[in-house]
Amino acid sequence: LAMTGCAGGGGGGDDELITVGFAQTGSESGWRSANTESMKAAFSEENGFELVFNAADNKIEAQIAAVRSFINQGVDAIVIAPIVEDGWDDVLTEAKEAGIPVILEDRTVTASDDLYAAWVGLDFRNEGVMAGQWAAETFGDTPTNLVVLEGTTGSAPANDRAEGFAEAIEGTAITTLDSQTGNFTRADGKTVMEGFLQKYGDTIDLVYAHNDDMALGAIDAIEAAGLVPGTDIQIVSIDAVKDGMLALIDGKINFIVECNPLLGDLAAGLVKDVLAGKDVEKKIYVEDQSFTPEQAAEVIDERLY
Ligand code: AHR
Repeated sequence: LAMTGCAGGGGGGDDELITVGFAQTGSESGWRSANTESMKAAFSEENGFELVFNAADNKIEAQIAAVRSFINQGVDAIVIAPIVEDGWDDVLTEAKEAGIPVILEDRTVTASDDLYAAWVGLDFRNEGVMAGQWAAETFGDTPTNLVVLEGTTGSAPANDRAEGFAEAIEGTAITTLDSQTGNFTRADGKTVMEGFLQKYGDTIDLVYAHNDDMALGAIDAIEAAGLVPGTDIQIVSIDAVKDGMLALIDGKINFIVECNPLLGDLAAGLVKDVLAGKDVEKKIYVEDQSFTPEQAAEVIDERLY
């Protein structure tokens, strides 16, 4: 007989699977694909889980509806990668009242931390600081015109990466000409960069993209405008996914700060610990590195995403 998940059970017999509902943001970027893969591998039947997966196409209402449906199904635990920071109080309260623990992965929320068991992810603010420090060191006192491709409006990484970067470039000669969302996608990164180029032309010196995918879209736009990305217009971005690292090695991106998407095992461990009634840390930060083109060339063959 095939084993099935036993919703609502959690701590039952040996051959019972733990049913976990995972509310993913969508599939906006290379980072997200790697994150989804990592989560699916960790929450496998082999590891004792039955995974109910939902990707919300970056629509907040759809993501909240998915969480509500997990509550109604009576899953054992819920994992959420929250699209935006705000607006989680009601549904997290409903999960709590239903006795279903919630683990957040990747992005954070502004709701009270009583409403979830734990969070595992990256220090987005520090990623912004690292990107900004590179810009400050590279351009320093040289008057520099910056444009910013922001991530999804209202998301923790867009908010925190903007804040960290701004702090790190304070007091430099870097001026922000414009800052708009490219929704963490390659297509929107390209469209927004086309608009920036039309408006500011080759007065743009530097692009700060909140993720590699938008930087890759910007590269297409810059090349289409007859300019050389990485030379005429320098680019700093965040994620360090394979395509971003290859563009870095190619000299089209100048510096990348990592955002590690391989959070599956940590999230799965948290779910098991929480269901077993163990004390867990409320916030678990995974460390990030940063890469120059030379450093990227050294590690590219060992990278897992
Ligand atoms: O929350 C992490 C961010 O979401 C990644 O930097 C971006 O690529 C993704 O879509």
